[in-house]
Amino acid sequence: METSKVYTGENAKLLLQGKEYNLPIMIGSEKEVGLDITKLRADSGAITVDSGYGNTGSCLSAITFIDGERGILQYRGYPIDELAAKSNFVEVAYLLIFGHLPTKAELDDFNFKLTHHSLIHEDMKKFFEGFPPTAHPMGILSSMVNSLSAFYPEFDYKTDLEINIARLIAKLKTIAAFSYKKSIGQPYIYPQNHLSYSGDLLNMMFAVPSEEYKINKVVEEALDLLLILHADHEQNCSTSTVRMVGSSEANLFASISAGICALWGPLHGGANQEVLEMLEHIRADGGDYKKYMNMAKDKSSGFKLMGFGHRVYKNFDPRAKILKASADKVLGQLGKSDPLLDIAKNLEEIALKDDFFIERKLYPNVDFYSGIIYRAMGIPTNMFTVMFALGRLPGWIAQWKEMRETPGTRIYRPRQIYTGATKRAHAPIDKR
Ligand code: CMC
Repeated sequence: METSKVYTGENAKLLLQGKEYNLPIMIGSEKEVGLDITKLRADSGAITVDSGYGNTGSCLSAITFIDGERGILQYRGYPIDELAAKSNFVEVAYLLIFGHLPTKAELDDFNFKLTHHSLIHEDMKKFFEGFPPTAHPMGILSSMVNSLSAFYPEFDYKTDLEINIARLIAKLKTIAAFSYKKSIGQPYIYPQNHLSYSGDLLNMMFAVPSEEYKINKVVEEALDLLLILHADHEQNCSTSTVRMVGSSEANLFASISAGICALWGPLHGGANQEVLEMLEHIRADGGDYKKYMNMAKDKSSGFKLMGFGHRVYKNFDPRAKILKASADKVLGQLGKSDPLLDIAKNLEEIALKDDFFIERKLYPNVDFYSGIIYRAMGIPTNMFTVMFALGRLPGWIAQWKEMRETPGTRIYRPRQIYTGATKRAHAPIDKR
């Protein structure tokens, strides 16, 4: 949809301190309504205040559509469940970044680039060695991505963007796997070009030089599904961070590195690690999930049901639905059972019937079941958010690219309502 077509030609009227202002009305391609307040401050001197940006559209975007009330998620118009069933992660990455599903030739070319750029500079291995064994892999991931800007400093946006996009996607899985190998003291396993993106990641994480590692198809497919489900989620905290940093024209690697830091937090991507730790805690405490449900409802307890609630979804997170089914399937196919899955299902069942959760429209989110699948695959808990980052990377890149290619993009610079002291005289130290 062309930007100019977003405007309906109608205005909303704002009555402010006795004066009337016209705010142009916008309607997106899925009929969501917005008010353009770009000129409000220049015309009236007033700004809008929206703590946490829950009502603020920071951009126009043609990448991802979410209808949180109806539990809908679409990448470039394709429903998430169709992409999950019919595409692989590399196809979805291409779709997000370049706007259309690739032809066979386009996909082959993209895959060629993703495999042939997956090595990292040997000097980067020295960086891994500098981290203490206690380092969280998200900290390592973010530092390493930022350091890519030192290895590819001559980044001309016009000529080098595509190759740097491929480099970043290709190398992130190598960096992720190396950071895991470093944390367990095993030798690094290099990428292999004949493997799929997800298969290569598993191989680099779990193979050892002394014996053959056979990639389990069930695990490879489950990992690919997880990456697809995480691939984009419009203007969330980490994506907005990537756009924020990128709006200053900071390079791609620096912008994505900042996004990784934002994702790390427990209210965002870090929730998958928190969910698993919470479920383990409940089990170690005797498995009394009802006790924890009561704690989640009691604000003074400071306890939140991790993996529940979402700023946008006020209905089932469609990704959580897919993952709940996938958790059952993967555990069944791997012949595993997990008491944590039972605790999770019990928590979900009572939460969905509980007035506190019903009134606040709190449903399980993508992080509620993903950790159980990662665990069944043998991925350690502190790597869960790294997996999320690998999945989210194409979305971050697509959003960064869209922002840079949108004419008239300005540096992100919100305003504030100042609440501090008004102008006062400075007193010398002996007079205070
Ligand atoms: N457990 C208990 N109560 C909750 C929870 C929860 N997980 N989430 C929200 N609430 C309550 C909250 O206390 C508030 O109650 P009240 O209206 O009485 O004050 C109400 O529900 C609304 O919550 P909020 O904190 O104002 O909502 P938000 O939109 O600011 O926060 C959230 C969204 C995801 C940060 C929050 O629901 C949360 O902290 N959930 C747990 C962490 C989590 O699972 N994060 C992963 C999000 S999905 C992956 C991603 O995209 O990052």
